Amino acid sequence: MSNLKKILTNKIPCKSIWFMRQAGRYLPEFREIRSKNPSFINLCLNSELSSEITLQPIKRFDLDSAIIFSDILMVPFALGQNVDFIKGDGPKLSQFEIKSFLNKNEKDFYQKLNPVYKAIETTRKKLKNNKSLICFVGAPWTLLIYMFGLKKDNNELDINKFNNIKFKLEELLDKLNDFLCIHIKKQIEAGADVVQIFDSWAGILPEKDIKNLCYKPNAKLVEFCKREKISNICFPKGLKDKLSEFNQFVKPDGINLDPEIDPLWAKEKLKNVVLQGGLNPKKLLGTEEEMLSAATKYINSFKDIPYVFNLGHGLLPETDPDRVEKLIKFYREN
Ligand code: CP3
Repeated sequence: MSNLKKILTNKIPCKSIWFMRQAGRYLPEFREIRSKNPSFINLCLNSELSSEITLQPIKRFDLDSAIIFSDILMVPFALGQNVDFIKGDGPKLSQFEIKSFLNKNEKDFYQKLNPVYKAIETTRKKLKNNKSLICFVGAPWTLLIYMFGLKKDNNELDINKFNNIKFKLEELLDKLNDFLCIHIKKQIEAGADVVQIFDSWAGILPEKDIKNLCYKPNAKLVEFCKREKISNICFPKGLKDKLSEFNQFVKPDGINLDPEIDPLWAKEKLKNVVLQGGLNPKKLLGTEEEMLSAATKYINSFKDIPYVFNLGHGLLPETDPDRVEKLIKFYREN
C-alpha cells in the first residue's frame, strides 16, 4: 500500500509528497513532447504519451504519487463540447447544448474517455506498488464555469450569464453528477487508487449559493466514493474560513489547502480529515531560503498529524525543476 493510501484510509502520519501539475510545462521533457503535439486534447487522448508524461516527474524525482496526465475539461469534451486551449488565453469551449446534454448516452460518454482509462492501465503497470496513482475530476460548479463561460476576463463571476442558467441548475448538476461518478469509477477500475476533486472556482460563488452549488455537489461525489470505498481528496479553492463548514458538510477523506489558508487555523478547525498541500507555488520562484522557510511552516505545523506534502495550487510553468528537487529533498530530511 502507498503512503498516501495509508494516510487517507488509516490516518497514520507518514511521509508522502506529490505536486499538483507535477507533469507540465516546467519540465523540459514535457515541453519536448508538447512541442510535437499542438492539440492539448489530442495529447490527453494519446494513451501512450499521456502515460509517459505521467511518469516523467516520478522518474526525475521519485515522488510518492503519480497523477494521471489528463484535464478536468475532458468531461465537457466527452459530453460533446469542442475544447480548445489557446496559448496565453486559457481554454475555449464551444456553445453548450443543454438539450443534447440531457439526452446524452452514458456509454457514448465513457467510450470517448477510453484513452484516459487505457493511460491509467498502462501507467499502473509501470508504477511500483508502493506508489499511488491519483485520478481526478472537476467538481460540477467548476465545470459549469467553463461549460457556460461564466467567468469574466478579470476572473469574477458573470452575474448575467449565471442568472440565465440558474433555473436549470438543479437538473444540470444532477446529470453532471451521474457522468462524474461514471468517470471516477472507470478511472479507479483502470487502476487509480485515489481521486482528487477540483473545485477551483468555489471562491467566486455568491455566499447564498455556496451550499447548493459547492457543498452539496461535492458531498454527492464524496458519498459516491464512500459507497464505492474510493479514497478521496477535495480541493475547493478560495473558501477562506468557510472551508471548515465545507469539511463538516462534505466529510471527505482529505482536503487540499490553498495558500490563503493559515496552516495553524487549518489544524485547529479542520477535524477528522487528512490535510494536504497549502504552500504557495510562487514560493518556488523566490530564493531558496524563502522557499525552505515557507515549507518549514507547513512541515512543522503538521508534524504530529496525518499530512500530505503538496502545494496550494499547481506548479507554475516558470518553476526551475532543480528547485522542485531541493524542496523534495528538504521535506524528506525534515
Ligand atoms: O496535476 C497534474 O499534473 C495532472 C494534470 C492536470 C492538468 N490539468 C493538466 C494540464 C490536472 C490535475 C488539471 C486540472 C485542471 N484543469 C484544473 C483544476 C486545477 C486548477 O488548475 O485550478 C482546471 C481549472 C483545469 C482547466 C485548465 N487546463 C486550464 C484553465 C488550463 C490552461 C491554463 C493552464 O494552467 O495552463 C489547462 C491546461 C492544462 N492542463 C495544462 C496542463 C499540463 C497546460 C497545457 C499546455 O501545455 O499548454
